Amino acid sequence: MDQSSSSKRKRKADAMNEWEALELEKIAKVKEMYSKGVPFFTKDSIRNIHQQLLKAKTGDEISVLNLDGTSSKFKILNGEVVDGDEPKTEMVQIDPHIRYESIQGLTQRIDGAFTASFCPMPIAHFLEVRDKVTKEFCQRSKKHPNLPREEAEEFFKTCCKEWEASEPCKQLRSILASAQLPLGITKIVAFACSNFSRIITKKPHSSRGLVRPATQHALILTLRDILSKKDCGSSGEIECYAQDPVYSSLDKSILEQSGIKILSDPEGFLEVDESTVVLSFCPNVCVRQVVTDIARPAIMIWDRVLWNEDEMDGEPKTDPDSPRLKKMLQAFYEESEMPDDYDDANKSFGIKFGNAGIYIRKANAISRL
Ligand SMILES: C[S@@+](CC[C@H](N)C(=O)[O-])C[C@H]1O[C@@H](n2cnc3c(N)ncnc32)[C@H](O)[C@@H]1O
Repeated sequence: MDQSSSSKRKRKADAMNEWEALELEKIAKVKEMYSKGVPFFTKDSIRNIHQQLLKAKTGDEISVLNLDGTSSKFKILNGEVVDGDEPKTEMVQIDPHIRYESIQGLTQRIDGAFTASFCPMPIAHFLEVRDKVTKEFCQRSKKHPNLPREEAEEFFKTCCKEWEASEPCKQLRSILASAQLPLGITKIVAFACSNFSRIITKKPHSSRGLVRPATQHALILTLRDILSKKDCGSSGEIECYAQDPVYSSLDKSILEQSGIKILSDPEGFLEVDESTVVLSFCPNVCVRQVVTDIARPAIMIWDRVLWNEDEMDGEPKTDPDSPRLKKMLQAFYEESEMPDDYDDANKSFGIKFGNAGIYIRKANAISRL
């Protein structure tokens, strides 16, 4: 090896070490802020980004306040086209949205790569892949066709009836009937319950309508019924809201007919407060970490916390447990298991809701906040 290439290597190694040291320092700072209780998500910061997004046109910049007081700028690239990851394809950037970063997302090192960042809510776009010449969407970007309207309405009605008649639903009613529920519940906000009125043609999962997402929405109606009959100290209707960017216009219209208002991201988060029941099952975003920072809802029915696992270690997850989430649940909530059907394939419960828990705020928890 000649001297010049050896010194080039050394300079590269020094630069790598310096960069790695800076990334590690950044991670340590983010972790320190986290352990000191600095909120990573606040309603004000979410609202501020939402208002900018509502007005933004392609080419505009969205400014997001970072945890260290600096700000990051994100260009709106809606409609811009970039080369695809396969020959003869291109990708169109669409739907600029908030990417909620979990504490793990901000501080993990995955396969040797750092994800260190001070920005808990960067702006991202979805990508649609299409043929460069014909402009036809490729298979993975093709939308599943909707059911005909009447069939979709009937499908949702049937799923609601089947859920209501099911053993897990009866068990849930009995758990909530015997629990001391917090007073003043006025609304239900459901996240990520997904699209149910489409046709899947891909074997072996081909189906006309999707039972699991439909049942998660049926749960909203069951809870509305339970809460409006139980004296929880609230007067008037229990408002129902659902937020999931994947809803088709058919889903939206069927849900609206049932009295469930559709909210676009991040309006669901802005609705969550002490008088709210929050639902969320296997979301693609860290719903539980966002909610933990912004409120102490009356009830949450969402993915169960794995108390014995180190949530800061292991495979990256979309809605990971976190030290703050565990602390909040331990201090303020009673936990019980969400009843569900048995899954023969996985030899576990969780066909309709996954491994979910019911978290009911303890009496007087609010006065201790
Ligand atoms: C893995 S699927 C789970 C769907 C369903 N809850 C279940 O248990 O089968 C994740 C869902 O999260 C939704 N999602 C992604 N970003 C979201 C956001 N910002 N707000 C609400 N839902 C979101 C997706 O559209 C998708 O429906």
